[in-house]
Amino acid sequence: APSAEEIRDVVLPLTGLEGPLLPMLHAIQEVWGHVPQAAVPVLADVLNLGRAEVHGVISFYHDFRDHPAGRRVLKICRAEACQSVGGAGVAAETLARLGVDWHGTTPDGGVTVEPVYCLGLCACGPAAMLDGRVIGRVDADRLTAELEAAR
Ligand code: FES
Repeated sequence: APSAEEIRDVVLPLTGLEGPLLPMLHAIQEVWGHVPQAAVPVLADVLNLGRAEVHGVISFYHDFRDHPAGRRVLKICRAEACQSVGGAGVAAETLARLGVDWHGTTPDGGVTVEPVYCLGLCACGPAAMLDGRVIGRVDADRLTAELEAAR
Protein backbone atom coordinates (compact mmCIF):
# COMPACT_ATOMS: atom_id res chain seq x y z
CA ALA A 1 0.00 0.00 0.00
CA PRO A 2 1.26 3.48 -0.78
CA SER A 3 2.41 5.76 2.01
CA ALA A 4 0.84 9.12 2.80
CA GLU A 5 3.98 10.68 1.41
CA GLU A 6 3.62 8.93 -1.96
CA ILE A 7 -0.04 9.88 -2.20
CA ARG A 8 0.80 13.47 -1.37
CA ASP A 9 3.37 13.55 -4.19
CA VAL A 10 0.72 12.45 -6.68
CA VAL A 11 -1.98 14.91 -5.62
CA LEU A 12 0.00 18.04 -4.76
CA PRO A 13 0.59 19.06 -8.39
CA LEU A 14 -3.20 19.18 -8.83
CA THR A 15 -3.99 21.58 -6.00
CA GLY A 16 -4.24 24.54 -8.40
CA LEU A 17 -7.15 23.04 -10.31
CA GLU A 18 -10.65 24.24 -9.75
CA GLY A 19 -12.53 21.43 -8.00
CA PRO A 20 -9.39 19.38 -7.48
CA LEU A 21 -10.85 16.47 -5.52
CA LEU A 22 -12.10 14.42 -8.48
CA PRO A 23 -8.94 14.87 -10.56
CA MET A 24 -6.92 13.88 -7.51
CA LEU A 25 -8.97 10.75 -6.97
CA HIS A 26 -8.59 9.83 -10.64
CA ALA A 27 -4.86 10.39 -10.42
CA ILE A 28 -4.60 8.14 -7.37
CA GLN A 29 -6.64 5.41 -9.00
CA GLU A 30 -4.55 5.75 -12.15
CA VAL A 31 -1.37 5.10 -10.19
CA TRP A 32 -2.52 2.40 -7.74
CA GLY A 33 -5.55 0.90 -9.48
CA HIS A 34 -7.80 1.87 -6.58
CA VAL A 35 -8.16 4.59 -3.97
CA PRO A 36 -6.54 3.21 -0.82
CA GLN A 37 -7.83 4.12 2.64
CA ALA A 38 -4.62 6.03 3.27
CA ALA A 39 -5.68 8.57 0.65
CA VAL A 40 -8.61 9.85 2.71
CA PRO A 41 -6.64 11.66 5.44
CA VAL A 42 -4.14 12.97 2.88
CA LEU A 43 -6.86 14.47 0.68
CA ALA A 44 -8.73 15.84 3.68
CA ASP A 45 -5.55 17.55 4.80
CA VAL A 46 -4.46 18.86 1.41
CA LEU A 47 -7.93 20.19 0.53
CA ASN A 48 -8.94 21.23 4.01
CA LEU A 49 -12.01 18.99 3.95
CA GLY A 50 -13.47 16.62 6.50
CA ARG A 51 -12.54 12.96 6.14
CA ALA A 52 -16.22 12.06 5.97
CA GLU A 53 -16.64 14.45 3.08
CA VAL A 54 -13.78 12.86 1.14
CA HIS A 55 -15.06 9.40 1.91
CA GLY A 56 -18.55 10.44 0.78
CA VAL A 57 -17.26 11.54 -2.62
CA ILE A 58 -15.32 8.30 -3.10
CA SER A 59 -18.36 6.17 -2.39
CA PHE A 60 -20.72 8.37 -4.41
CA TYR A 61 -18.83 7.87 -7.67
CA HIS A 62 -18.91 4.26 -8.73
CA ASP A 63 -15.79 4.84 -10.81
CA PHE A 64 -13.64 4.69 -7.73
CA ARG A 65 -12.84 1.41 -6.06
CA ASP A 66 -11.55 1.30 -2.52
CA HIS A 67 -9.76 -2.02 -2.92
CA PRO A 68 -7.64 -3.46 -5.73
CA ALA A 69 -9.57 -4.99 -8.63
CA GLY A 70 -9.33 -8.68 -9.47
CA ARG A 71 -6.81 -9.86 -12.05
CA ARG A 72 -9.54 -9.67 -14.65
CA VAL A 73 -12.33 -7.15 -14.96
CA LEU A 74 -15.65 -8.20 -16.44
CA LYS A 75 -18.07 -5.43 -17.32
CA ILE A 76 -21.65 -6.30 -18.12
CA CYS A 77 -23.86 -3.80 -19.93
CA ARG A 78 -26.86 -2.60 -17.98
CA ALA A 79 -28.16 -0.05 -20.46
CA GLU A 80 -31.54 -0.28 -22.12
CA ALA A 81 -30.87 -2.05 -25.40
CA CYS A 82 -29.06 -4.88 -23.65
CA GLN A 83 -31.68 -5.07 -20.92
CA SER A 84 -34.37 -5.53 -23.57
CA VAL A 85 -32.67 -8.67 -24.86
CA GLY A 86 -32.10 -10.33 -21.52
CA GLY A 87 -29.07 -8.50 -20.15
CA ALA A 88 -30.40 -8.39 -16.62
CA GLY A 89 -30.82 -12.15 -16.50
CA VAL A 90 -27.33 -12.73 -17.89
CA ALA A 91 -25.89 -10.41 -15.27
CA ALA A 92 -27.85 -11.94 -12.40
CA GLU A 93 -26.86 -15.46 -13.39
CA THR A 94 -23.20 -14.56 -13.90
CA LEU A 95 -22.99 -12.74 -10.57
CA ALA A 96 -24.65 -15.69 -8.84
CA ARG A 97 -22.23 -18.17 -10.39
CA LEU A 98 -19.26 -16.08 -9.32
CA GLY A 99 -20.80 -15.47 -5.91
CA VAL A 100 -20.29 -11.71 -6.04
CA ASP A 101 -22.39 -8.59 -6.29
CA TRP A 102 -21.80 -5.64 -8.64
CA HIS A 103 -18.33 -4.16 -8.02
CA GLY A 104 -17.43 -7.33 -6.16
CA THR A 105 -14.29 -9.38 -6.56
CA THR A 106 -14.19 -13.16 -6.23
CA PRO A 107 -12.43 -14.33 -3.05
CA ASP A 108 -9.48 -15.66 -5.06
CA GLY A 109 -8.97 -12.19 -6.55
CA GLY A 110 -9.61 -13.64 -9.99
CA VAL A 111 -12.32 -11.38 -11.33
CA THR A 112 -14.13 -8.15 -10.53
CA VAL A 113 -17.56 -7.57 -12.05
CA GLU A 114 -18.60 -4.02 -12.88
CA PRO A 115 -21.72 -2.61 -14.50
CA VAL A 116 -21.28 -0.53 -17.62
CA TYR A 117 -23.83 1.64 -19.39
CA CYS A 118 -23.59 0.91 -23.11
CA LEU A 119 -20.55 -0.48 -24.85
CA GLY A 120 -21.67 0.69 -28.28
CA LEU A 121 -22.58 -2.87 -29.14
CA CYS A 122 -26.33 -2.49 -28.75
CA ALA A 123 -27.14 -4.34 -31.98
CA CYS A 124 -25.53 -7.49 -30.60
CA GLY A 125 -26.66 -7.40 -27.01
CA PRO A 126 -26.45 -8.53 -24.35
CA ALA A 127 -22.96 -7.10 -24.42
CA ALA A 128 -20.03 -7.42 -22.06
CA MET A 129 -16.39 -6.47 -21.88
CA LEU A 130 -13.66 -8.67 -20.50
CA ASP A 131 -10.32 -7.00 -19.83
CA GLY A 132 -11.11 -4.32 -22.37
CA ARG A 133 -12.33 -6.68 -25.11
CA VAL A 134 -16.01 -6.37 -26.07
CA ILE A 135 -18.11 -9.51 -26.51
CA GLY A 136 -21.58 -9.53 -28.04
CA ARG A 137 -24.58 -11.82 -27.62
CA VAL A 138 -23.38 -13.16 -24.31
CA ASP A 139 -25.14 -15.46 -21.94
CA ALA A 140 -23.96 -16.70 -18.57
CA ASP A 141 -22.43 -19.85 -20.10
CA ARG A 142 -20.43 -17.83 -22.60
CA LEU A 143 -19.13 -15.50 -19.90
CA THR A 144 -18.26 -18.38 -17.61
CA ALA A 145 -16.43 -20.08 -20.48
CA GLU A 146 -14.50 -16.92 -21.32
CA LEU A 147 -13.42 -16.58 -17.71
CA GLU A 148 -12.44 -20.24 -17.49
CA ALA A 149 -10.53 -20.13 -20.78
CA ALA A 150 -8.31 -17.33 -19.58
CA ARG A 151 -7.37 -18.91 -16.29
FE1 FES B 1 -25.61 -2.49 -24.15
FE2 FES B 1 -25.48 -0.46 -25.87
S1 FES B 1 -27.03 -0.94 -24.51
S2 FES B 1 -24.12 -2.08 -25.62
